[in-house]
Amino acid sequence: MDSDKSAIEQPAPQATSRATPALILVTGVTGFLGKVVLEELVRRRNNGTVQFEKLVVLIRQAGGKPPTQRFYDKVVQSPCFKELPPEWHQDIVVVSGDLMEADCGVSPDTLAMLSQQTTHIIHCAGCVGFESSLNVLLAENVTTSANMLGLAQRCAHLQRLVMTSTAYVTPHTNEPIWERLVALPRPADVLLDDLHQGRRDAAEMLAETGHPNKYTLAKCLAEHVVAQKMGRTPVTIVRPSIISASLQHPFPGWIDSFAALAAPISAFALGGLKVLHGDPDAVLDVVPVDAVATCLIDEALGLAKYGSCDLNNMNAQARIAHCVSTTARGPRTRDLVFGTVDYFAQPDNVVLHKPKGCYVGQDDRLFCFYDFFFQYLPVKVAELAALMRLDWTGAARARKTMVRLQQVDTHFRFFVEHTYDYRCEASVLDPDFDKDRYFSVVLMGLRQNMLVPLVAKMQQQHANAADQAEARKDGSAQRGSG
Ligand SMILES: NC(=O)c1ccc[n+]([C@@H]2O[C@H](COP(=O)([O-])OP(=O)(O)OC[C@H]3O[C@@H](n4cnc5c(N)ncnc54)[C@H](OP(=O)(O)O)[C@@H]3O)[C@@H](O)[C@H]2O)c1
Repeated sequence: MDSDKSAIEQPAPQATSRATPALILVTGVTGFLGKVVLEELVRRRNNGTVQFEKLVVLIRQAGGKPPTQRFYDKVVQSPCFKELPPEWHQDIVVVSGDLMEADCGVSPDTLAMLSQQTTHIIHCAGCVGFESSLNVLLAENVTTSANMLGLAQRCAHLQRLVMTSTAYVTPHTNEPIWERLVALPRPADVLLDDLHQGRRDAAEMLAETGHPNKYTLAKCLAEHVVAQKMGRTPVTIVRPSIISASLQHPFPGWIDSFAALAAPISAFALGGLKVLHGDPDAVLDVVPVDAVATCLIDEALGLAKYGSCDLNNMNAQARIAHCVSTTARGPRTRDLVFGTVDYFAQPDNVVLHKPKGCYVGQDDRLFCFYDFFFQYLPVKVAELAALMRLDWTGAARARKTMVRLQQVDTHFRFFVEHTYDYRCEASVLDPDFDKDRYFSVVLMGLRQNMLVPLVAKMQQQHANAADQAEARKDGSAQRGSG
């Protein structure tokens, strides 16, 4: 299917109100997506394609570090901003807040300032930890979104609040998936109450709503809570599919997150993962992070292609925008797996071990063969070898590797078991988007920005551990002879 055909035919975009934003508030800037949003806002202000007076980022305190320190360490220092002038961050205002708290945990003075001045909010914060408990996922996605909406409702001059959801809020269906709220069997507040009161556990709730995992359930409930509570607040919910490396900005291949697609690619690339449960012919929906950032910014600032949707008449319901590549522009599971292995097996691209022998499919004989001989056995042998050397750390590392490989397969499974046929009013990708070229950019970016540094760090840690062990041995030999 051609992507332009998959976008619904729409009349010409309408003019929308584009008053100069006074203050744009962005959340989640220490994360993968939020950084790229911030970079794009600054870059577009510098080149005159967007205007605003003040840019405020909300960051929580963590690891004993205040938000300003975290902004410097995790954001300013990130290669994501290396193409900007060195002083790019000078006029950005960092506010301390925790979105899980009432009023987003900001001080009364900050609350007063934000209420008076904020015109646009781009809310990128959230939790993508598939392995987290449902309670954590609800707190980090539902409570934070409700609190963000509460703050937005205090802002006297708010023009739009844009929330980041996921395209996977819709459980798999063979039908086209539209930009509308997913039907739930019971109202979201009733479902949440059942979970909070312990009348239903996560497994029962997943069975009731049909969601494949706790993350997509939490994001779906967050959308419903916002839709229920928004009243006349202008809200847009942006639903990206699988977000991966940038296509163009800040530079091709930028990525700093092992979440989503990066997890299986990395596991195959490092030579550990050999099997993936999935339909080899399923088409993955992957979007470049810079396309998502542009979508969020354009939705917030009224620059998006709205098609038939009249924003001025949308105050009673949230606008929902899919930010997807569609079935015409995604790799098939088999291309993802074999393309990854081929790329990282090339002599110049090997990062740790040359990957070889892998399989994608269901639990058939071939799957079990590859799983046992190529994945389970080498890790088990490494664990046994470490035990025979009395190397408890090495044995524990091997066990951890086994658990991680299984997690990657389990968490990524629902993306590759089916094709999701998303439909959108407006495509976020250029008409000349080339999926094969983009996949090469993803592999190159992941290798340069994540895997090479990771392997260097691991090797340094091993070298340090070996030095320490040697020093301990020397010390005990000297004590023995003394
Ligand atoms: N990655 C994907 O493939 C994907 C796909 C679809 C949708 N999404 C959605 O896109 C959004 C961003 O994802 P991402 O990949 O950029 O995630 P990420 O790298 O894990 O970043 C998450 C960000 O949220 C912040 N955050 C979480 N809880 C917070 C709280 N209570 N108060 C303040 N800040 C908080 C984190 O801050 P700390 O540094 O303090 O933890 C971090 O900046 C999420 O809503 C996610 O659901 C992601």
